[in-house]
Amino acid sequence: MGIEKTLSIIKPDGVRRNLVGKILSRFEEKNLRIVCTKMIHLSKSQAEGFYAIHSERPFFEELTTFMSSGPVVVSILEGENAVLHHREIMGATNPDDAEPGTIRGDFAESLGENTVHGSDSLENAIIECSYFFSETEIVNSTS
Ligand code: CMP
Repeated sequence: MGIEKTLSIIKPDGVRRNLVGKILSRFEEKNLRIVCTKMIHLSKSQAEGFYAIHSERPFFEELTTFMSSGPVVVSILEGENAVLHHREIMGATNPDDAEPGTIRGDFAESLGENTVHGSDSLENAIIECSYFFSETEIVNSTS
């Protein structure tokens, strides 16, 4: 618990449907602060590196092809209990199980194209944040 940082990605389906502002607003409205953000179009190998933990899964090819199919918005969000809080705002991974009012419950169309990604633990948040951002890019939110 306490103040944490977590990695948040708006996936290609979210960017394609012009949902960036709406999704980032939901995080801000729920007390998560954007401490750095950028839009990037991942190469296939960048997507494979990011999701290396899933490399043996049957959906790895589909996942990495989708994640490199168009631009994404990657952000580091900071706040109280940010890893879990962010996951609650996103809702369940499979939109069929996601509650209305969560991002996936409201916007996601399938398990593969589920609009957002978030770190699943503090340990992975540190790894995932450093995959996309250097220390000098992360603003000090108290300054
Ligand atoms: P994410 O939170 O980005 O973490 C890994 C992603 O793999 C997950 O969201 C889903 O979008 C995707 N995923 C998980 N299971 C499947 C599956 N059975 N088929 C396709 N994609 C999946």
